[in-house]
Amino acid sequence: MLIKKQFNNLLFLKIYLFILASTINFAQTKIIVNLDELGSYIDPNIYGQFSEHLGSCIYGGIWVGEDSEIPNTNGFRNDVIEALKKLEVPVLRWPGGCFADEYHWMDGIGPKNERPSMMNTNWGGVIEDNSFGTHEFLNLCEMIGAEAYISANVGSGTVEEFANWIQYTTSESGNPMAELRRKNGREKPWNVKYWGIGNESWGCGGRMRPSYYADLTRVYSTYAKNYAGNQVYKIASGPNSYDTVWTDQVMEIAGKVINGIGLHYYTNNSRTAADFDEIGWFSVIQKTLEMDKLIQMHSKVMDKHDPTKNVALIVDEWGTWHNVEPGTNPSFLYQQNTMRDAVVAASNLNIFHKYTDRVRMTNIAQMVNVLQAMILTDNEKMLLTPTYHVFEMYKVHKGAINLPLELKTSNYTVGDESIPSVNATASINSNGIVHISLCNVDPNNNDEVKIDLEKFINGKISGRVLTSEEMNALNSFDEPQNVEPKTFTDFRFTDNNITVNLPAKSIVVLKLEGELNSNIGSAIKVNNPQPKLTYDYYKKSLMVLPNFSDLEIVSEGLIDQIKLPEPNDGSDFAVKYSGLIKIPQNGFYNFYSKSDDGTKLYIDGKLLVINDGRHAPMETQGFATLKKGFHKIEVEFFQAGGGLEIAVSIEGPGMEKQEIPAEMLYHESK
Ligand code: AHR
Repeated sequence: MLIKKQFNNLLFLKIYLFILASTINFAQTKIIVNLDELGSYIDPNIYGQFSEHLGSCIYGGIWVGEDSEIPNTNGFRNDVIEALKKLEVPVLRWPGGCFADEYHWMDGIGPKNERPSMMNTNWGGVIEDNSFGTHEFLNLCEMIGAEAYISANVGSGTVEEFANWIQYTTSESGNPMAELRRKNGREKPWNVKYWGIGNESWGCGGRMRPSYYADLTRVYSTYAKNYAGNQVYKIASGPNSYDTVWTDQVMEIAGKVINGIGLHYYTNNSRTAADFDEIGWFSVIQKTLEMDKLIQMHSKVMDKHDPTKNVALIVDEWGTWHNVEPGTNPSFLYQQNTMRDAVVAASNLNIFHKYTDRVRMTNIAQMVNVLQAMILTDNEKMLLTPTYHVFEMYKVHKGAINLPLELKTSNYTVGDESIPSVNATASINSNGIVHISLCNVDPNNNDEVKIDLEKFINGKISGRVLTSEEMNALNSFDEPQNVEPKTFTDFRFTDNNITVNLPAKSIVVLKLEGELNSNIGSAIKVNNPQPKLTYDYYKKSLMVLPNFSDLEIVSEGLIDQIKLPEPNDGSDFAVKYSGLIKIPQNGFYNFYSKSDDGTKLYIDGKLLVINDGRHAPMETQGFATLKKGFHKIEVEFFQAGGGLEIAVSIEGPGMEKQEIPAEMLYHESK
């Protein structure tokens, strides 16, 4: 009797499990991380931000003034500054947006009580008292350690205004603008590398046609001068979403005079941020994934004019644009931020990492209190949004090398429409640490993600997760820590395979510490290594690096480090350094070349760093995975009048960035 009862129970359990298994959707994803083929450098600027004179982004959100009761340092909110420092914001765009094309920077300098007011016609017609101006912005950048990206007024400004702004901020002395800056309390110039030539010049920035705007860009860029070692990086106002005609014309007419072209694409949604059902969840994520297609479309057009990818595609406005929160000024674009926004942020960052050869900066809109913000404030209160947490979790990818992925995932379907359930990215940093970030866009089903990491051995894995019970979970001023990253342990690591139980609607970042066992970067056999490099010295007037075999060697010798040989002519000469570099341990190495004028650096015959051309001191970077032992190194350098400088640095496992020390450099004695 008892046995029969137990048998019936077992049968019942089996039937129950069978029904359960057939109703639950066991989604599966397979990822192969290729460690034999490194992708390109993930420019930290991909994590850039945007702050406009709009609503309470600047006033109230960042700047409260010295006399405010809200704790501040020289007028900047302490809580916001601290949160931004933690985020390590690499670059900050300002003052707009549409505001930029009616902003006259000279109204925002000098004693505050003498600064004229203006009406902010784009954003609610509020009175802008100009108490936050150029000094305040550049001081903010210094405080949070961000590079400045100033968007200049082309729509209603003048070329002279633009040229003077660059001179005011970046020139040392000897001109009226530098003297004016000094009078206004700033002795030394700032570093302002990034300058935008207008904003949305097809729209609020002047409703221009592309050919007219492109001609203006040629004019503006002519007067964007370099002072005191500051190298201006010129960013043209780029296309709106799908407008490839704009990209084509600007690249054709002005492609040779710019360094970057901006793309603006917003994930628009007519409802408020937290007011949605599953259809709303799906459609916003589907819209945001269009970014992938857009980058491909514009890159293809850019490739036509610029096959060597000199000009960067800079997505200098992106993010969700929901309806404003009830009871707020519609012109202030204040919106809440939910788990869905976090998925939008992670999915876009995963897309940007795929195209780092072309996409070298992006600026999410906007940093505080506007659109898809990192931070929301309400008088003295402040909270970090789910989007902030994604940026904070993902900062491990900044300055790392993208690892190409093969990703096969199931579909997440709503009605007749489907999108991939999981999107992901992986990178390796200069300490050889691999990070894999996974985003499950499906709000209902966990996904079993199998990651094949064949070439990674002795791994130790840890993880963090951002997820929530509800699709529209958010952080409010009453519950500011409702959505926050937590430690993640739901994975198994066996035989170089990781199996992750990726929660529904989640973002997981895995950290893998171990050893690389890939074929790349093997050391070479050397018979008789002796200290110092050899160098050949050439006399020639050049504009770019030559083919050295066409030149006659004037003198040659041995040198401790990659420095200028003494004596040298001071002007119009070239040097080729050759020899061996002794790598202390297997790992991932960054090489940097800072020179005035051009340099190229080769490791084992492969061109790693290109810093060619006639220019002021400028540093560029390359990377390689190298095994312990000797590797060939070659550096080519030329000098053409003016400044004269060369410094070649290395950074690697347990090794801070430093000029390649003499102890690492050898030549092979014959
Ligand atoms: O980010 C808000 C606005 O969106 C910007 O001012 C403008 O450039 C874009 O249309």
